Amino acid sequence: MQNEVNGMVNIAILGFGTVGSGVAEVLTKNSGLIDGRVNNQVRLKYIMRARDIFEGPYKDLFVKDFSTIEHDPEVGIVVETIGGVGAALDYTTRALKAGKSVVTANKELVATHGYELLQLAKEHGVSYLFEASVGGGIPILRPLNACLAANEVDQVTGILNGTTNYILTRMIKAGLTFEQALKEAQDKGYAEKDPTADVEGHDACRKICILASIAFGRHVYPRQVPTEGITGVTLADVAYAESCNRKIKLLGRAVKELDGKICAYVAPHLIDAEAPLAGVEDVFNAIMVKGDAIGDVMFYGRGAGKLPTASAVVADVMDAARHIRSRKRVEWGPGGEDVTVSPEGVPFRWYVRCAGTAEKVRAAGLDAALLSRPGAPADEVAFLTRAMPRGELMSALSGMELGSLFRVLE
Ligand code: NDP
Ligand code: HSE
Repeated sequence: MQNEVNGMVNIAILGFGTVGSGVAEVLTKNSGLIDGRVNNQVRLKYIMRARDIFEGPYKDLFVKDFSTIEHDPEVGIVVETIGGVGAALDYTTRALKAGKSVVTANKELVATHGYELLQLAKEHGVSYLFEASVGGGIPILRPLNACLAANEVDQVTGILNGTTNYILTRMIKAGLTFEQALKEAQDKGYAEKDPTADVEGHDACRKICILASIAFGRHVYPRQVPTEGITGVTLADVAYAESCNRKIKLLGRAVKELDGKICAYVAPHLIDAEAPLAGVEDVFNAIMVKGDAIGDVMFYGRGAGKLPTASAVVADVMDAARHIRSRKRVEWGPGGEDVTVSPEGVPFRWYVRCAGTAEKVRAAGLDAALLSRPGAPADEVAFLTRAMPRGELMSALSGMELGSLFRVLE
């Protein structure tokens, strides 16, 4: 049973960075509206910081020791915005065991330990909610869990990382270098503490794991999801994509195969310039879900940033507060090696840029559609293939020096 004292639900925020400070701001600024909608008084009681900076409007709320929060029976909901799987896992576990609901934006923790934390929440009759962990401010997990519950979901495909979408947009539209665009994303609070997680695709990987776990009902772990980021995307690739009326986007995908297994991966794709995902730019994210009853549905909005993310976190706090005497039911089954299938054997159309000539490509028997771009060096060739598994393509290309190899989304 969770804690509600004299008609009041007390909140503790762990971590006071971009998201944590946004949560404090929204809880404070919209306090009257939140109380009215929850039909209870929601009060921010503690903010836990790692640093000894105890000043500003919340100075009386700051604490440094988690046990103050853990052992305070008045605290009903803990908001974890620390990130990572070290202290965050420890505090989340202890909060759930102490009978407190936990709300988080931490996709790394949910993707790696979500199943066991949801089980722990169930055991202790409390909620573990993480809407902000995917798509920042976009409502996607709750709709997937509730509004689309009548559908057999076939696939989920999304632009899931705001930082990389921002970088690609700024490089293409404003001519910034990769480093300049990344610095802007960091200054705006979009990037992870270690931005390698963004640019190498690990953040998108964690998000597709969470989406797949909800959509298909079994835990999908990051190690089961082959992942590539955007560091291999060049302006030459962008020009070749444009020449065939396509755009390059980093996509996370989870597709249910005919045998019921899940094929999930993260990689740059060429997509039709007229497709809805092609128009998603800047820090925006979009997630397309295909269900057997609804067909295609797309969720779109700001995928990162202080207040958009806080919007989703505080909505979860409100949901947990409404369920303070019960539990908001979110769960999926355990993971396992039988849950997923590798994308290696699945046929895709490919975009290839490599050193070579059109003659060499023809000789390789690839039935390729050649592409061109202004200023291309004489020894560079780029083309689109028919649908084939990666292994077959790689054998045909043996002996040619590969530049880029991206899937084409049909
Ligand atoms: P920040 O690095 O800005 O904030 C994390 C804060 O955690 C730090 O400022 C630090 O606060 C605090 N912290 C670190 N270790 C401890 C500890 N042991 N105990 C208490 N506090 C600690 O990260 P973000 O706010 O950007 O991200 C937080 C989480 O939200 C991550 O999981 C991230 O992936 C996720 N997220 C981020 C989004 C974004 O747009 N930034 C969007 C969606 C999700 P201090 O030193 O001040 O105490
Ligand atoms: N670093 C993440 C992104 C934050 O850029 O999408 C939101 O999850």
